[in-house]
Amino acid sequence: MLFDGRDAVAVEHAAAVLAGGGLVGFPTETVYGLGARADDNVAVAKIFAAKGRPADHPLIVHVQGVAQAAVFASELPAVAQRLTSALWPGPLTVIVPRASRMAEAAAGGQASIGLRCPSHPVAHALLAAAARLGVPGVAAPSANRFGRVSPTRAAHVVAEFGDDLLVLDGGDSEVGIESAIVDCSRGQPVLLRPGVLTRGQIESVAGQRLLARDAAAPRAPGSLETHYAPRARLQLLAAPALRAALQSLDSASGRVAVYSHTVHAELRPSATWPRLYKVMPMQADLTARELFSVLHEFDDDGVQLILVEEPPDTPAWEGVRDRLRRAATA
Ligand code: TXA
Ligand code: MG
Repeated sequence: MLFDGRDAVAVEHAAAVLAGGGLVGFPTETVYGLGARADDNVAVAKIFAAKGRPADHPLIVHVQGVAQAAVFASELPAVAQRLTSALWPGPLTVIVPRASRMAEAAAGGQASIGLRCPSHPVAHALLAAAARLGVPGVAAPSANRFGRVSPTRAAHVVAEFGDDLLVLDGGDSEVGIESAIVDCSRGQPVLLRPGVLTRGQIESVAGQRLLARDAAAPRAPGSLETHYAPRARLQLLAAPALRAALQSLDSASGRVAVYSHTVHAELRPSATWPRLYKVMPMQADLTARELFSVLHEFDDDGVQLILVEEPPDTPAWEGVRDRLRRAATA
């Protein structure tokens, strides 16, 4: 069931479903989430079942602000306080020590918990309405089956989970890739997942350097999803390699799609002309916004191979490069 997220009655209804231990699909500025009340282990188990996600894989708990975050945290380390007061509401998740016995299932059994305050008005309205019904926070991973491309519009969620799920429609997600995740639970902060906020922006607010995920030892608990895979095979190639790959396409290549910012100008229609062609924007934030819906479109079109030009190796592109690397199969 798809409901208009701007309709206050629909939001109240969705909040009641959450309060009763049910699941709701809802928009955030990053991607759509599949939510359950975070303080109810049985409700949270439904998320893992629906997604086909291993139960030891921790979820992010969505809260209205720092005050609600305190319910789930045993402490908010100073760096987490600086980050949340400057960057919430927004596309940032902090991992902090978890309050004992709170949201155990949502945390996948970890002693830490991921917290995020989304800025999307529908998400905000839903959290507020749920809070009035006694829900302290909403655990929500991206509303896709485990390992698949995250949803950036309500139709993606319906396509993934069917019509029985209540989904609030809040339009296209403006950010388009998932929040940046900073682990603040282990002394020096670690950037576990890049987002559209650049490492430099986060460091200037944190007042300290972020360790790279790989440099952090021991490895962070709760391994991040290894792929955001479309059904088609995706190859991430530098421009010269992409050119060469296009030259060698033949009828056996099947339906091919291309997503690139430079190579298209050289393409000439031919028998092996790629099935679908999409120009990648020159700005990282615009590419982030459309990336997952472009991958969903290619999949819907039934292409077998997606050739993507590698974006520039600059800080602004870190989040997009990360998602493309994970989506690439070869
Ligand atoms: O933008 C977002 O963050 C979206 C929207 C819906 O808010 N949510 C999202 O959730 O991307 P999900 O479950 O797809 O990704 C959450 C990631 C997981 O890969 C998990 O490894 C990491 O956060 N995570 C959560 N809690 C953690 C913890 N306590 N320790 C380490 N990693 C954690
Ligand atoms: Mg996800």
